[in-house]
Amino acid sequence: DKGPYQHFMAKEIHEQPDSLRRALLGLVDHHSCKLKPFLEEIDFAGVDRVLLVACGTAHYACHIAKYWLEDFAGLPVEVEIASEFRYRNVALSGREIAIFVSQSGETADTLAALNHLRNRVAHRVAVVNVPTSSIAREAEHIVEIQAGPEIGVASTKAFTGQLICLAALAVKAGLQRGTVSQADEQNLLSNLTMLPRQITEILALDGAIQAVAKDLVDAGDVLFLGRGVMYPLALEAALKLKEISYIHAEGYAAGELKHGPIALIDQSVPVVVFAPSDEHFEKLVSNGKEVAARGGRLIWVTDPKGASKLKDVEGSVLKVPEAWDAWAPIAHAVVAQLIAYHVAVLKGTDVDQPRNLAKSVTVE
Ligand code: F6R
Repeated sequence: DKGPYQHFMAKEIHEQPDSLRRALLGLVDHHSCKLKPFLEEIDFAGVDRVLLVACGTAHYACHIAKYWLEDFAGLPVEVEIASEFRYRNVALSGREIAIFVSQSGETADTLAALNHLRNRVAHRVAVVNVPTSSIAREAEHIVEIQAGPEIGVASTKAFTGQLICLAALAVKAGLQRGTVSQADEQNLLSNLTMLPRQITEILALDGAIQAVAKDLVDAGDVLFLGRGVMYPLALEAALKLKEISYIHAEGYAAGELKHGPIALIDQSVPVVVFAPSDEHFEKLVSNGKEVAARGGRLIWVTDPKGASKLKDVEGSVLKVPEAWDAWAPIAHAVVAQLIAYHVAVLKGTDVDQPRNLAKSVTVE
């Protein structure tokens, strides 16, 4: 049942304040702003490396979590595409924790990678939306995404749910390794619990996001840029747009632009920049100016603080509520989803069942 929505994807995008509240309720005690017990058998102080393995959108969630785990827990992290990982001779010490992220829990390559590591690492954890799935059954430990059924082929609420689980996991890792204090924990988690409200505010910007979509609909190529933890979000935004609107899109680390992709830039290429006012903001603005100097059309996604610093910079500005720096990709994900959704609706493509794609990929 789509309720008042034209597509399941729209319904699922709009469900995110609720689905994330549900995920948070399972992981965070809202009174104390401390983690509830989960994965109690795992001690991150006893592992020497984290492997994050997944496909597609779930792989981008892992890529974001790498920044968090390094930052909060000082742990070496490798992010792996399941279909590549399973065929590599990865050097293992046996003291790794391997985390497999999957909405469906049935993705063949992710399942094969999980099997491939049986008895070879210290812990195998599945972060899944379907607790009865093959991946959930095979792993020794599970964290449930709690997003509820996701029908639209393009993953939305499962992605942000995965991020909430991985965020809690990174905080837990930091606490156990002594790199996150109890005060840090409260600060990180109280900011994490603000996301449902911030996302409600973003959903109310639908009109402004439709205007951005109008700007993209006739483009042959679109670039998405970010730095730091927003870089993998740029990759996810590009995937979402490609999948449902069939417009060619690429995500790039903004600092990498001048090493090649800037050659693509002219007036016909819109460039969407995910630019929360974080430590990377000034550098990102310089990268944006490089784009503007070559005639590129800039669309900045930023917060009020960022917007005030963009007054003299070319391009249009979409202002979203300010989220805690580390958690900004979770809030901006909703912007990326709405941009892709509205472009697809304007183009008249099949939003919920894009051509050539299946909801769960059970072939290798
Ligand atoms: C993109 C998308 C896919 C899935 C990928 C993994 O919107 O939905 O890229 O993320 O096929 O699927 P799961 O998470 O079910 O393993």
